[in-house]
Amino acid sequence: MKSNSGYRRREFLWTAGVAGVMGLLEGKGAEGEPARASSLPTRGRLMAQLESIAAEHVTIPKEEGQFLNLLVKLTRARKVLEVGTAHGYTTLWLAEALEATGGQLTTIEIVPERHELAKKHVAEAGFSHRVRFLLGDAHGLIPKIEGRHDVVYLDADKGGNGDYFEKLLSGKLPAGGLLIAHNAILLADAMQAYLERVLAHAEFETVIVRAVPEDGMALSYRRRAGRS
Ligand SMILES: C[S@@+](CC[C@H](N)C(=O)[O-])C[C@H]1O[C@@H](n2cnc3c(N)ncnc32)[C@H](O)[C@@H]1O
Repeated sequence: MKSNSGYRRREFLWTAGVAGVMGLLEGKGAEGEPARASSLPTRGRLMAQLESIAAEHVTIPKEEGQFLNLLVKLTRARKVLEVGTAHGYTTLWLAEALEATGGQLTTIEIVPERHELAKKHVAEAGFSHRVRFLLGDAHGLIPKIEGRHDVVYLDADKGGNGDYFEKLLSGKLPAGGLLIAHNAILLADAMQAYLERVLAHAEFETVIVRAVPEDGMALSYRRRAGRS
C-alpha cells in the first residue's frame, strides 16, 4: 500500500504540470490539499490584487510571469538576479520557481516605497526566505553584488540595459547563464543599443520570444567555452 500511494503521488507530480504551478500561486496544494507554507492560502488573493494594480506599477502580464517561472525551472537556476522589483509581482513568479529549484533571488529597486511594498508582498506569499531585497540604483549595486547568477532578468530603465550588460559580463553571468531583457519589442527603440550589442556579441546567442502578442523578451544564452 505504501509504495502504491507513493506511486500515485509521484504520478500526480509528473502530470500536474502548469496547473500545479498555478495551483501553488493560487494557494492550492496537490489534489486540493493545503500547500506547504502557512501563508499559501493568501497567494491567490495576493496575485489577483497585484494584477489589479499592475498598470500603476508597470508590471508584466501574467503570461510573462508564467513564462519566467518556467524558464527558471527549466534552467534549474539556483541564483537569480532581478533588476527592477517594482511592487514584487515578477518577484513572486521568480521566487515560486526558486522554491522548486532550491535557489535564491536577489532583486534591486530604486524607489524606496516600491522596495518596501515588494518586501511586504513577498512576506505575505511566504517567500521571504527565497528573496534578498536591495534598495538603490542597480547601476551602482550590480558591481558590488557577490557571486554569479544563472539567470538575470532586466526590467528597469531600458536605456540602462547596455550598462547593465557590460557590468554583468565581468564575473556576474557565467557561461551557461541566461540573460533576459523585458520589453524587447514594445520598447525596442529605447533598448536599441543594448539589442545591437547583445545580438552581435560572439559569446551570446539571442532570440526574441513572445509570451504575449504585443511584446517580447530578449533571451540571451552565454555560450560555454569551446561549445557552439
Ligand atoms: C517596469 S517596472 C518593473 C516591473 C516588475 N518587473 C514586475 O513586473 O513586477 C521597473 C522598475 O524598475 C525600477 N528602476 C528603474 N530604474 C532603476 C535603477 N536604475 N535601479 C533600480 N531600479 C530601477 C523602477 O522604479 C520600477 O519600479
